[in-house]
Amino acid sequence: MPKPPETTSLPLRAVLFDAYGTLFDVYSVALLAEQLFPGRGQALSLLWRDKQIEYTHLVSTSSHGAHYQPFWELTRAALVYAIKKIAPDIRADCANGQFDAKIEQLMNQYRCLTAFPENREVLQALKSRGVVTGILSNGDPAMLAVAVKSAGLGGLFDHVISTDAIRRYKTHPDAYTLGLQATGLPARQIAFVSCNSWDALAATWFGYQTLWINRNQAPFEELGTQPLYTGSSLRDVLALPFGDGAPA
Ligand code: LAC
Repeated sequence: MPKPPETTSLPLRAVLFDAYGTLFDVYSVALLAEQLFPGRGQALSLLWRDKQIEYTHLVSTSSHGAHYQPFWELTRAALVYAIKKIAPDIRADCANGQFDAKIEQLMNQYRCLTAFPENREVLQALKSRGVVTGILSNGDPAMLAVAVKSAGLGGLFDHVISTDAIRRYKTHPDAYTLGLQATGLPARQIAFVSCNSWDALAATWFGYQTLWINRNQAPFEELGTQPLYTGSSLRDVLALPFGDGAPA
């Protein structure tokens, strides 16, 4: 359950969800990675994710965004890096385009990541309470559309917001501003939900009412700010203080 807020705030009217890691399990690729790179699948999936996020920060903070690439391209670049790092021997083993074939297999898996099981019921409950729902993600529009559809979540979001519109990634404040523009609400009336501690931290700094979903009992970031709420599954969203008069 979320811990209670330390300060009073206006009732919440909307929820914006991070996508990758929050709605969609980015580590669900580990099984296929293990089949393709025996003994190294988990390490590969972890490094892939870390490098992907590192690249978003790199292109957002360097040269005024001149080196921006869409999230799909950064995801592919991060995968190539991770394979070269985790399995440096593999390219020699993969004659006749097999290296590229493995990349394509993993990228296709990434396109349709496994969704966390509670997503649908939580989104339906929010919709039935009249809460505005949305995604605010680094994913580019095509990626998000496929991920939402393949997870069976079509029609449950009022807004699917991609930071690609401004060619800046979270944690750039312009990226978080997109959520205010889409909903027409101030940040203090929007719950921002993320499993990524760096995202929950930056969203808190931005001014959102942040719920960090800590699925893996990980420590939070050590930069002097805590999220307003902490939970262990997406169901904890339903206990937030929405201004709909409905019981939590
Ligand atoms: C997202 C990634 C960063 O924005 O989790 O969906």
